[in-house]
Amino acid sequence: MRVVILDGAGDIGAFGAGLILDGVLQGRIRTLGVATGSSPLAIYRALADRWIPALAHLDAFALDEYVGLPADDPQSYHSVIRREVTDRLRLDPANVHVPDGCAADLDAECERYEATMAAAGGVDLQLLGIGRNGHIGFNEPSSSLSSRTRPKTLMAATRRDNARFFDHPDLVPRHCLTQGLGTILDAAEVLLVAQGAGKAEAVRAAVEGPVSSMCPASVLQLHRRATILLDEEAAQQLALRQYYLDTEKTRIEGLRP
Ligand code: GLP
Repeated sequence: MRVVILDGAGDIGAFGAGLILDGVLQGRIRTLGVATGSSPLAIYRALADRWIPALAHLDAFALDEYVGLPADDPQSYHSVIRREVTDRLRLDPANVHVPDGCAADLDAECERYEATMAAAGGVDLQLLGIGRNGHIGFNEPSSSLSSRTRPKTLMAATRRDNARFFDHPDLVPRHCLTQGLGTILDAAEVLLVAQGAGKAEAVRAAVEGPVSSMCPASVLQLHRRATILLDEEAAQQLALRQYYLDTEKTRIEGLRP
């Protein structure tokens, strides 16, 4: 794992956008996995500021969607991805995919979504946030580490955390469709972003705890190209914090005897 600790949202946005733009320019990133939530917003905004025409040719796949919210509901992830990603990065809406949480047959919809991802050649870089309980996508604790896209039940704590986006806590859906942990591991590269002290415990468990379904993000320890992008607050519980800072310094200055 590469753990990068930066000063704040501005630096996180610039770093993440730089990584993505490099990949796009090199032809390595043609399909982007996109996440909702506040964590990746700085990256989307920095990408919009540094927009290049090649971005418009990207395919994008969302991680998850609520069950029962129509695509035009402002809180559906269809709407969030359209506002924050498709419009800002000027992607072709036909190339932006979000699972349909209103499909009549949700299991069939999940299979269709996996098949669409496979037909596109898979995800080249997957952006991720992390829930306070360690979830990625909506893979709640106890999710199978090899799970595929499927319907899931949201934990009460996750519904409480996400209630800030809804007019009333009871309006937060109880179920979702989410890419599985196995689906996420199939991405060629992953970039997880976490900010704020509220994420520090989840980040510690994900980066330095055992690989365990009780912290779904810990599965990223099995990924060959996982970068964890943190601000100081989110990094504050890491035992090896100084080592991660030293390692990044070495990347900049080069190896020295
Ligand atoms: C939701 C999303 C996750 C996201 C998480 C954290 O539950 N399904 O993909 O990582 O929220 O959100 P935030 O970045 O706003 O803290």
